[in-house]
Amino acid sequence: MSEELRKKCKSLRLAYIADIYNDVPFESPEQYLNTLFQEEFRLRDQAKAQRLIKKARFLDRKTLATYQWNDQIRFPSYLTKEELTSLRFIEDQQNVVLIGSPGTGKTHLATGLGRKACELGYDVRFYRVSHLVEELEMALKQNRLGALRKRILKFDLIILDEMGYLPFSKEGAELLFQLISECYEQKSLILSSNLEFSQWNRIFTDTRLTAALVDRLIHHAHILSFHGQSFRLTNALSKS
Ligand SMILES: Nc1ncnc2c1ncn2[C@@H]1O[C@H](COP(=O)(O)OP(=O)(O)OP(=O)(O)O)[C@@H](O)[C@H]1O
Ligand SMILES: [Mg+2]
Repeated sequence: MSEELRKKCKSLRLAYIADIYNDVPFESPEQYLNTLFQEEFRLRDQAKAQRLIKKARFLDRKTLATYQWNDQIRFPSYLTKEELTSLRFIEDQQNVVLIGSPGTGKTHLATGLGRKACELGYDVRFYRVSHLVEELEMALKQNRLGALRKRILKFDLIILDEMGYLPFSKEGAELLFQLISECYEQKSLILSSNLEFSQWNRIFTDTRLTAALVDRLIHHAHILSFHGQSFRLTNALSKS
């Protein structure tokens, strides 16, 4: 393509056409333009998904495609796998809570759902809860809590992984509570924990705060429970 044409594509903000126009089959002018534009849209969506995935900061590359839907995961009776993976819960500002024993696939499923959300164009952020609390505490100390909260509340879906693995300070617990309260009925959360709700007092120490937090979290939440042996253990045993 001539430099002049390339420039015209650029000023029309057509990022891909200059590179692909030669490879698109030509049958008629209308078909050609149609296919060309379709490709431009597809490549744009792909690049956007990659940007969102990077921004989400997942800790690994797990996807729904590699997730095995076995009987270790139990759904509430009204919810199907298809409904869950359609991600309608994001549109409805509902939460997904994954609770159960270690190594049963909670982080894998949360990451898989998060990646799919990015592919559909949602703004997602993956946090280990302990890191998020550290960030909130640091922001409070440095007088920039407002700005951090504002940034977090721009995401459509916030994944809070490993709730309850490490206890928080009183201040940390309050900061997390405030954030979850702000998300209530406004944002969608996916939360994973290996502690039953009845044991959350242990992480938050304050009983009233725990009750208020659990109440907000599970109103409009799909709660999935995970059972049985750890995948990590099964893997380690099968190797020996
Ligand atoms: N249903 C599954 N299908 C495919 N891989 C799985 C499944 N469940 C677990 N795994 C794999 O087993 C390993 C442990 O799973 P994962 O990290 O998701 O567990 P977890 O429930 O988050 O555990 P923890 O509570 O310790 O954080 C990962 O490598 C994950 O990919
Ligand atoms: Mg995990």
